[in-house]
Amino acid sequence: MSSERVNTANGATYPVQTPFGADNTTQAMGVTAPQGEAPLVREALSSVVSRETLRSPGVPEVSFVAPQAEAGRRHKTDAGWPKPARCRVLTVANQKGGVGKTTTTVNLAASLAMNGLRVLVVDLDPQGNASTALSVEHRGDIPSVYQMLVEDMPLAEVVKEVPEMPGLYCAPATIDLAGAEIELVSLVARESRLKRALMAYDAMELDYILIDCPPSLGLLTVNALVAGDEVLIPIQCEYYALEGLGQLIRNVDLVRAHLNPNLEVTTILLTMYDARTRLASQVAGEVRSHFGDVVLRTVIPRSVRVSEAPSYGQSVMTYDPGSSGALAYKDAAREMAFRGAQKTTA
Ligand SMILES: Nc1ncnc2c1ncn2[C@@H]1O[C@H](COP(=O)(O)OP(=O)(O)OP(=O)(O)O)[C@@H](O)[C@H]1O
Ligand SMILES: [Mg+2]
Repeated sequence: MSSERVNTANGATYPVQTPFGADNTTQAMGVTAPQGEAPLVREALSSVVSRETLRSPGVPEVSFVAPQAEAGRRHKTDAGWPKPARCRVLTVANQKGGVGKTTTTVNLAASLAMNGLRVLVVDLDPQGNASTALSVEHRGDIPSVYQMLVEDMPLAEVVKEVPEMPGLYCAPATIDLAGAEIELVSLVARESRLKRALMAYDAMELDYILIDCPPSLGLLTVNALVAGDEVLIPIQCEYYALEGLGQLIRNVDLVRAHLNPNLEVTTILLTMYDARTRLASQVAGEVRSHFGDVVLRTVIPRSVRVSEAPSYGQSVMTYDPGSSGALAYKDAAREMAFRGAQKTTA
């Protein structure tokens, strides 16, 4: 068992353990990047972060809403859900594949939009699964996140409205993005290109930006961690669920130490919970005991309707709104919105 610790939004630190077998890499590294270990930290990040950035770690704070606009903002939607005082940017990350990152991004975004909030999904995964699930075209030749990151195309030229879902927008990913990890390496400020694009975007009317990450900790995920204020980690209630989590959290700490001082792990969501198995409740118990309040009370059940929805180009919220998966995602979105409101609204 390891004794790693993670900083969380409520200021507490929690140990991170790998209960299902030793994760030697993460155990050896220690999660929180201590001040005195800058050379070590720099070495660790140097594979993905450009030298200029490491020399001057101070990055300007992202502010998506002008003060005068904040003053005039309504605090609640018609459905009674709180509107954050400024746009919340959540990076949905877990380098483990198939844990529910995309499903979570799409369904939380749809729930928020259906309850009166204005939401942008940034599809940062070359697989383009979030774009597919939202029925947003992502053929090779359309303006996409690739052009935005690599060719400096303004985000406004990339963003599309999601069909039949007022208030929901998507910046689609095409397969070109697969090459971006390599192409970004030679570009200036390679790890903060998404942040720059978001800052230049007129996000005045947006309440949420959700960034769907690929299953890796490369430059695309680093861009998302630099651009966001909050990290949302979906954890699948399965064996090995926590392996590799220490590495993700260490990367979050490194990015916070050098590139984005505002970054916090604010939300963990348990996904694909199968109430029939003891393993699922064991995993859920482990995660809750290690991460405490950061874990949403709502758990997403394993549900066939959730997995069917993307093939109809829909979230489960519209595909089968009464299904257990849709109801759970709505509860999770509400919980997230109200929790964030305590922090971000006046
Ligand atoms: N609650 C659920 N019930 C049943 N199936 C689910 C559920 N959540 C996700 N799935 C299915 O599990 C698979 C993986 O989910 P998803 O694509 O969201 O994971 P991911 O973490 O984004 O994957 P990747 O790492 O490849 O990007 C998909 O086929 C999805 O439909
Ligand atoms: Mg995905």
